[in-house]
Amino acid sequence: MSDDAPKHAPATVTVHGGEPRRHPEAAMTAPIVQTATYTFEDTAELKAFFEGRTERTEEYGRYGNPTVRLFEKKLAALENAQDAAAFSSGMAAVTTAILALTKAGSHVVLFSDCYRRTRQFVTHFLDRFGVESTLVPPADVDALEGALRKETKLVISEAPTNPYQTVPDLKRLAAICKERRIKTMIDSTFATPINLRPVEHGIDLVVHSATKYLGGHNDVLGGVIAGKEGLVGIVRELRNVLGGVLDPHAAYLLLRGTKTLALRVAQQNASAQRIAETLEGHPKVARVWYPGLASHPNHETAKSLMTGFGGVVTFELKDGLDAGSRVVDAARIPRIAPSLGGVESLIEQPALMSFFELTTEQREAVGIKDGLIRYAVGVEDPDDLLADLLRALDHA
Ligand SMILES: Cc1ncc(COP(=O)(O)O)c(C=O)c1O
Repeated sequence: MSDDAPKHAPATVTVHGGEPRRHPEAAMTAPIVQTATYTFEDTAELKAFFEGRTERTEEYGRYGNPTVRLFEKKLAALENAQDAAAFSSGMAAVTTAILALTKAGSHVVLFSDCYRRTRQFVTHFLDRFGVESTLVPPADVDALEGALRKETKLVISEAPTNPYQTVPDLKRLAAICKERRIKTMIDSTFATPINLRPVEHGIDLVVHSATKYLGGHNDVLGGVIAGKEGLVGIVRELRNVLGGVLDPHAAYLLLRGTKTLALRVAQQNASAQRIAETLEGHPKVARVWYPGLASHPNHETAKSLMTGFGGVVTFELKDGLDAGSRVVDAARIPRIAPSLGGVESLIEQPALMSFFELTTEQREAVGIKDGLIRYAVGVEDPDDLLADLLRALDHA
């Protein structure tokens, strides 16, 4: 357990967690230590460092940086985890962790609605190195249990997933895997540590695309994993070899973004819930997927694990692709862009973005409906967001 988490609420930990009471030069904020390497006074200091007889921790930029370390400590505190390691992007975190925990002959199980680049890495790249994988249906923990083999080393899921926001029963998943000594990794990007802390439910590793809510301003790429010290240490060691490290300037932006995480997420949770509830009764909307709605298939599970349901609302228009495009084009506040979690609301049509290369039939086969819209709510005034969206829906 980190020092901060049990004593303070997440909103306090976002501001103070992981940081010393006084930064160098009595600065209020964390310094950006912009250096690629670190000097030694003499060979005696060098010797003491490598023999572990000194307090100093840094040697070379790829192995560590004080600004990056502060971000890691803040995330460990927020996730109620022992340690964390930061990366240059979410995908650097995901791929490094998977590589660190598998070897030729290993088997990995993941839910089929995982982020498509994670799925691509596991199903198209890992198999080149003799790692087999099985995809199981979204949130289906029974199917997951059935897919486990004696070679299974890792189970990967997200909570909630994109775009239908499924939430598997993490407590059950963790218990099943623990019994078989299988490691579990949850990508909690959509939830944030304000809404969900997977480690508290028995999950071994939690991973984030820090590009999204943690940074929160659509201006920086980053990734982080958190969990038990030994496990994070194994992943960090491989990170230091593969080189996907976080830059100190990016670490500063992530530290700064994370300080307002609780405020932003509270607002995004509330706005998304209101938008989801309003859309659910709208005559032009076929269906809404939001874990905070009683109609969501995983609502009860989400309620048992999460303290808020996030800022992404997915909905389907009755009239399909073109109606969806008309709504997206008519909305004036959200920008059309991939990503989520920033202060600016973003809107997209999965059929035209992540799944553009597929035909309507192929999209149907992977469960992506043409009339689908993903609305990632920002921190604008909720009345304005709702009025803008309702006006845009007149064009559907
Ligand atoms: C759930 C999830 N995980 C991981 C990633 C990858 O993160 P990044 O873009 O920071 O590499 C994304 C990006 O969209 C994502 O949505």
